Amino acid sequence: MEAKMARLEKCADAVATGSGMAAIAAAALTLARPGDNLVASTTLYGGTFSLFTQRLRHFGIEARLVPTEKANTRQALTSRIDARTRFLFLETPANPTLDIIDIAAWADAAHALDAACIVDNTFATPYLQNPATLGADIVVHSATKYIGGHADIVGGVITGSQEMMRRIREEYLHSFGPVMSPFNAWLFLRGLKTLAVRMEKHCDNAHQVADWLQSQRIVRNVYYPGQATHPNHPVAKTQMRSFGGMLAFEVKGGLQAGKAIMDKVRLCRLAVSLGDCETLIQHPASMTHGTYSRSERLQAGITDGLVRLSVGIENAVDIINDLEGAFKQV
Ligand SMILES: Cc1ncc(COP(=O)(O)O)c(C=O)c1O
Repeated sequence: MEAKMARLEKCADAVATGSGMAAIAAAALTLARPGDNLVASTTLYGGTFSLFTQRLRHFGIEARLVPTEKANTRQALTSRIDARTRFLFLETPANPTLDIIDIAAWADAAHALDAACIVDNTFATPYLQNPATLGADIVVHSATKYIGGHADIVGGVITGSQEMMRRIREEYLHSFGPVMSPFNAWLFLRGLKTLAVRMEKHCDNAHQVADWLQSQRIVRNVYYPGQATHPNHPVAKTQMRSFGGMLAFEVKGGLQAGKAIMDKVRLCRLAVSLGDCETLIQHPASMTHGTYSRSERLQAGITDGLVRLSVGIENAVDIINDLEGAFKQV
């Protein structure tokens, strides 16, 4: 499993962990010590956000956040990095707003001050994007999502140089112990066999659903990096081979309308995970991103009415019909 992930991410080595959060915590706590700081974009998976802004504080590590709308501005980065910055951390596409961040620019800014650049590649998978070829030093995954592909296992992966993976194994995994079980590694290997065909279908379906959503009167905004109207589409085109299966949209009527839609769909399942063969729908403000305060959420672009869709590999017409039925009732 580790050897395959290293090759897929075009890295020298990889370490498999018990979950995606274990992968992120292992990388962070191997690199940073009390008195150090990290720089991260504000729009992150809720667990990563609370690890950085709350838990790492207990270890004397400070999180400096870059507002997502400034994430592609060099000055916003350089003003936050100093000699005690151990790593820059970004998610692209970001969970749940689908913002796209320029990986090469973040890697350059990190290297200028000898910091590492860590990219969470969960949404894109190595099939669509290889952060290491753009300068990232470490790539992390919640393998729970597309790598497994069937929403029935939990795991994580870290890829990078042999020296960095040696440090993560010796300084973190051996002591703290969040390793991947052999059985789960076998299930992830089985998932990897179909990664390519699944990702092709996820991308194709998501594009169709995003285009359809954009034509709906009840929908205020659609966030899908594959659409020319997405503000970061030009960056996405330079660093991704295609645009993935995740999208978000905002409905008129805010939280109430969003919740009503989630109650009315029948094929799309109300669930927090993503990257499953089946379409999953969820409400970031109350579910995956409940660890943010309201003002932190709004700063990260996670509005009350935002609905996130992990578009599955069903027939796209079935997904659209399901959403249309819910929209009509709402
Ligand atoms: C982008 C991203 N990174 C990391 C994680 C954490 O992964 P896990 O649930 O495997 O701990 C998630 C979980 O949703 C995620 O969406």
